[in-house]
Amino acid sequence: MKIQDFGVKNEPVLEYLKGSKERKELEAALQEVASKTEEVPIVIGDKELTSNDVRYQVMPHNHKKKIAKFYYANKDQVNQAIQTACEAQKKWDRVPIPERLRIWEKAASLMAGPWRARLNAATMLGQAKTTIQAEIDSAAELIDFFRLNCYFLKEATKYQPISENPKVTKNSMRYRGFDGFVAAIAPFNFTAIGGNLAYTPALMGNAVLWKPSDTAVLSNWYIFEICREAGVPPGVVNFIPADGPVFGDNITASPHLAGINFTGSVPTFQRLWKQVGQNIDRYVNFPRLIGECGGKNYHFVHPTADVTSVVTGSIRSAFEFCGQKCSALSRMYVPESLWPKVKEGLIEEADKLKIGDPTEYDSFTSAVIDDKAFKRISGYIDHAKNSSNLSIIRGGKYDDSVGYFIQPTIVQSTDPCDKIMVEEIFGPVLAVYVYKDKDVEDVLKLIGESTAFALTGAIFAQDEAFLKRAVEDLKMTAGNFYVNDKSTGSVVGQQPFGGARMSGTNDKAGGPHYCLRWGNPQAIKETF
Ligand code: ALA
Repeated sequence: MKIQDFGVKNEPVLEYLKGSKERKELEAALQEVASKTEEVPIVIGDKELTSNDVRYQVMPHNHKKKIAKFYYANKDQVNQAIQTACEAQKKWDRVPIPERLRIWEKAASLMAGPWRARLNAATMLGQAKTTIQAEIDSAAELIDFFRLNCYFLKEATKYQPISENPKVTKNSMRYRGFDGFVAAIAPFNFTAIGGNLAYTPALMGNAVLWKPSDTAVLSNWYIFEICREAGVPPGVVNFIPADGPVFGDNITASPHLAGINFTGSVPTFQRLWKQVGQNIDRYVNFPRLIGECGGKNYHFVHPTADVTSVVTGSIRSAFEFCGQKCSALSRMYVPESLWPKVKEGLIEEADKLKIGDPTEYDSFTSAVIDDKAFKRISGYIDHAKNSSNLSIIRGGKYDDSVGYFIQPTIVQSTDPCDKIMVEEIFGPVLAVYVYKDKDVEDVLKLIGESTAFALTGAIFAQDEAFLKRAVEDLKMTAGNFYVNDKSTGSVVGQQPFGGARMSGTNDKAGGPHYCLRWGNPQAIKETF
């Protein structure tokens, strides 16, 4: 049965047409957010705090403009937040699930209504997303996470164990939070992911320390304010901007660590996991570790593929959101027989893309997130310029004098294992390997063998028999797999999202099991 059959729907993505109410509201919010440097506190329980370590969030497309001032929590503040969360958890866990659901549904309504424009403005200016990209992220996806996780939790609580003779014994199950605290460590690239990482464990009865990304502080702070307004009690979610290692070292050293909900890089997740392993003797719980760690997402093009779908899908997947989606296309395998047409199409489409100010409605994308990303991505472009295996067939320019701008770049590689074909770049660079049509089977094998990632992948082919077999052969290469469609664009409740192997623990955000992973179910047998 489809989710829609139960009356739960995805939030519509608004179009912001000229003269529309939402466009006017958004423009007012953009002006308001751009006109100041918002002060964002550390929040522990009901206290808003500062520290001596002052930081700023700048606009990526205009990095002289600071849009938020925030503070890194120090070691003592992280530990104080742990203590506050553990105390809050004991009370929060007793709040009945229907009451928690009511708060979450109210938060979703605030996001969908009065807060929508401000949240989108913070995402656009702070994370360099265009109107439509912000609307997909900080409106639709965020609201969907809140509403659909409520729905999934309601559905899960309907199950009750069998009681064979209810007059004598009654069996029941209830969901509780964990004894301790959960740390949510959020990325910059999706505002919605920050909200999901922090508030889904909280929905399940846990208390959370939320470390937002430095480059998404403002939008994440607005989510915190919305949830506070909706009635999430003090101490249930604590807002803790912090230096990564200071936060990581202190949460993993606490005996009360109950879980880490993480989205970010492989090395950071591995570091946290190792620290948990080293401290395992001192914990009250076996901490639950959930992580999504990126990918090297692919499009495999079969000689029978439809060239138009390949070209449009590949341009959108590789370059929308500046290639800074976990799911973005990064490597492509194209048969020699189709390459002239595919190449021509890619160049033609890439030439049409306007890269500029995210608030201009005709911008396709804007800048990459920060100086660090700019250096890493331009480093791959320089590698392409300097390597005899690689040729840049489109793009290749970059300029950070005003904002962190990188031209969408397509690189052809004659080596399918060059680092540009196997390492995560997380930016607007698409690497293409052109294979001989007769080598199709070898290339299929190479997809899984050349990297350890397995997040998203797509196969384009019209040959039904080949498709059937390839779907099976490629099953370990992508947690989210697409047939004749681009590798991006998963929707909460429609394509639960997450990868396996080095891409993460594959707990599928936006799916029915995700919230249950943060539950601590108790089975009760009562004898009369
Ligand atoms: N929902 C995002 C996508 O699949 C991650 O593109």
